[in-house]
Amino acid sequence: MGLQNKRICIIGGCGHVGIPLGLAFASRGFPVTLIDCNRAAVDQLNAGSLPFKEEGADALLRAHVGRTLHATTDPAAAAQQEVVVFVTGTPVDEHLNPRVSDVLKVVTAYLPHLRADQLVVLRSTIFPGVTQIVEEVLKKALGSARLAFCPERIVQGKGIEEIFSLPQLVSATSPEAQAEAEALFSAIAKKIIRLSTTEAELAKLMTNAWRYLEFAIANQFYMIVEKQGFDFYKILDAMKDDYPRAAHFARAGLAAGPCLFKDTMQLSAFHSNEFFLGHSAMLVNEGLPNFLVGQLEARLGGLKGRRIGILGLAFKPDNDDIRESLSFKVKKLLELKMAEVLLSDHYVAGTLPLDALLAQAEGLVLGVPHAAYRDLRPACPFVDCWGVWPRPDAAPTM
Ligand SMILES: NC(=O)c1ccc[n+]([C@@H]2O[C@H](COP(=O)([O-])OP(=O)(O)OC[C@H]3O[C@@H](n4cnc5c(N)ncnc54)[C@H](O)[C@@H]3O)[C@@H](O)[C@H]2O)c1
Repeated sequence: MGLQNKRICIIGGCGHVGIPLGLAFASRGFPVTLIDCNRAAVDQLNAGSLPFKEEGADALLRAHVGRTLHATTDPAAAAQQEVVVFVTGTPVDEHLNPRVSDVLKVVTAYLPHLRADQLVVLRSTIFPGVTQIVEEVLKKALGSARLAFCPERIVQGKGIEEIFSLPQLVSATSPEAQAEAEALFSAIAKKIIRLSTTEAELAKLMTNAWRYLEFAIANQFYMIVEKQGFDFYKILDAMKDDYPRAAHFARAGLAAGPCLFKDTMQLSAFHSNEFFLGHSAMLVNEGLPNFLVGQLEARLGGLKGRRIGILGLAFKPDNDDIRESLSFKVKKLLELKMAEVLLSDHYVAGTLPLDALLAQAEGLVLGVPHAAYRDLRPACPFVDCWGVWPRPDAAPTM
């Protein structure tokens, strides 16, 4: 049987990682079944519509749904597959430790539908060592296991483009599983990079922690200079101008979302909570909302009873995902100051239309710079850590 005929199922398949991966394999001719416990998302997908925004995914879905791709809530569908991919969530707990039991619970729940001759692929971002634990679970239940860990590294919203252009890290617990996983991912990835399972688990966590630190240093510098009344972006632009070593310096912004924070904490838990830079990054990134509320309070001369608008609730621009977004922390902090908070985000149902918010707000916080907000010129005092709106105040020249 040729590689292209391999039947693939993706567990957690209607999520942000599962859909791009399923579409990628389906577009290469593989029969793909997305298994997900979220019935609404399954129904929506089978009807040809995406449960969230993902560039380029609509066209692929229309081309393949009902043909090489379909979704189901039935876990037993895993039994008919040759490849079973797990991409369910991997959060940290209230003590910022990885909830390894979440991964094991899902795998254990699917054991009745798994066979020793299937290739099982873990694709969620997992704590180092979890692939080996899963191997033990599979071996105990099935006698033997063909297990690979092949982490997803796409950036949300650009998953379709990136899944075909990024190299794929491939690791496995046996040479047979390694060869099979490499052959499988060669069908969609432009390059395969081989690592051991723990190396691949660490590579994924380090990638996300690095990104979180990049945002933290920009946010720290933003707070250092803005507190003294200087314009962060005037200084940043000067730093970067024709200076290659600063070319990739990040802009400031509310750095959040479902991955960067929790993966930085996973890496710290792996290092006995002694990832000091990671924890400092968390303090900086999580402290930015407090700083912004303080900036607005100073500009308005107080927040009590004032009507404050937050524009943009998603955790990144031009995306509809509000998971772990720091705009909601800004909202909470404003409410603690007894401000009346108005919310608007055209991607988020139930929020105010932009015009209604602008007509009522006495002060604004730019939560995320969706394209539709970039050309606004707010008439009221505002804070914009993203640097998209011209500043009304001249920076000190000393
Ligand atoms: N979102 C990203 O861009 C991204 C990128 C790289 C890696 N990751 C990692 O991928 C993993 C998944 O992230 P996500 O953003 O896709 O999460 P998600 O919440 O969007 O998707 C997870 C899906 O799993 C489903 N699910 C949960 N339990 C299930 C079960 N028992 N059976 C079937 N379905 C089940 C949910 O309904 C949901 O649709 C995480 O480890 C994350 O860190 C995410």
